Amino acid sequence: MSDQLPAKDVDVLLAAAVAAPSMHNTQPWRFEVEGHVIDVYLDGSRTLPAEDPSGRAMRIAAGAATFNLRCAAASLGYGAWFGLAPYPGEEPDLLARIVLEPTAARDEELTDLARYIPYRHTDRQPSDAVPIAEDVRVALMQAAYAEGAGLTWLGEDDVRSVLDLVLDTDLREIHDWHRRAERAHWVGGRSTDEPQPATGPRPPGVSRSVDGVPSSALGPRSASYPAVVRDLATRPDDRQRAERTFERHPDLAVLSTDFDEPADQVAAGAALERVLLTATRVGVSASFLNQPLEYDDLRRTVQRLTGRPGHADMIIRFAHNHPHAATPRRPLPDFVRKQP
Ligand SMILES: Cc1cc2nc3c(=O)[nH]c(=O)nc-3n(C[C@H](O)[C@H](O)[C@H](O)COP(=O)(O)O)c2cc1C
Repeated sequence: MSDQLPAKDVDVLLAAAVAAPSMHNTQPWRFEVEGHVIDVYLDGSRTLPAEDPSGRAMRIAAGAATFNLRCAAASLGYGAWFGLAPYPGEEPDLLARIVLEPTAARDEELTDLARYIPYRHTDRQPSDAVPIAEDVRVALMQAAYAEGAGLTWLGEDDVRSVLDLVLDTDLREIHDWHRRAERAHWVGGRSTDEPQPATGPRPPGVSRSVDGVPSSALGPRSASYPAVVRDLATRPDDRQRAERTFERHPDLAVLSTDFDEPADQVAAGAALERVLLTATRVGVSASFLNQPLEYDDLRRTVQRLTGRPGHADMIIRFAHNHPHAATPRRPLPDFVRKQP
């Protein structure tokens, strides 16, 4: 076996990793490749200090990227051994270490899920009124469980409670210009390949570059309030986009973990991506109604709605759609350091 992973395999692995979801598409990760080891780090220059002060969302994103790495590794015929947040005390930014070895017994499930990585996009379009089938619900619960997390489907009353919490967060946010300014930096504008600074204010009217959420991915505005899909728009032209009627009874589920340490949050990200790819495979898409989870007290309320102990990490709304609104990603050399 060679000392190094073949360069073409590294490209496939990392392209899969960066296709993972991240809050506001910040893509808050960087990778170091040495021999057969890939380390996944947080990129401290791509934080969301107002909306994600603890870095939980960043760790979830990195966990999702790690899961994609494992799927791509399986599809290339590697077995992957991994540790999540292996040294939280000494190396808090090192979120996962993956060791790849060629194997004759690759993981067939991960190999299959790898095929759906390019087709998973956050879907902010209205759904039909058809509930998610029982067997799909069970499959998605099993996907979360396989990565050490839980997925709880919410009944009608609990969905209404979540929508009340969404209303509550909107009221809290009215006077919080830090949060609104942060979102204005990351959300809106046309997607282009034009490079832009990772931080600092973006002048009004400037196009989105290879990060953030472009206007094209925002979906329509909801005709009713509170909306079942989070409206991320801050710019005046985005706020005036077309209005549509969304489903009245969204299928919502809460992804949670038993504990809330960094490794648990990375595991939550892996579970999230396993759930999302499993859903994509059966033609079910997802969006997120996460705003209550950005406030500690409301996050506890959401977890209580699940009826079990633990820590809520994502509120996921599932729909029968095939989303096409892909968001851009930065070019690979931006976040990779290969050892000589
Ligand atoms: C931790 C986390 C939180 C997120 N929160 C929301 C949210 O509250 N509302 C939303 O519409 N999208 C949310 N997203 C989705 C991101 O905006 C999306 O992943 C990103 O723009 C990249 O687009 P893609 O998922 O289509 O690849 C979240 C993603 C992650 C990983």
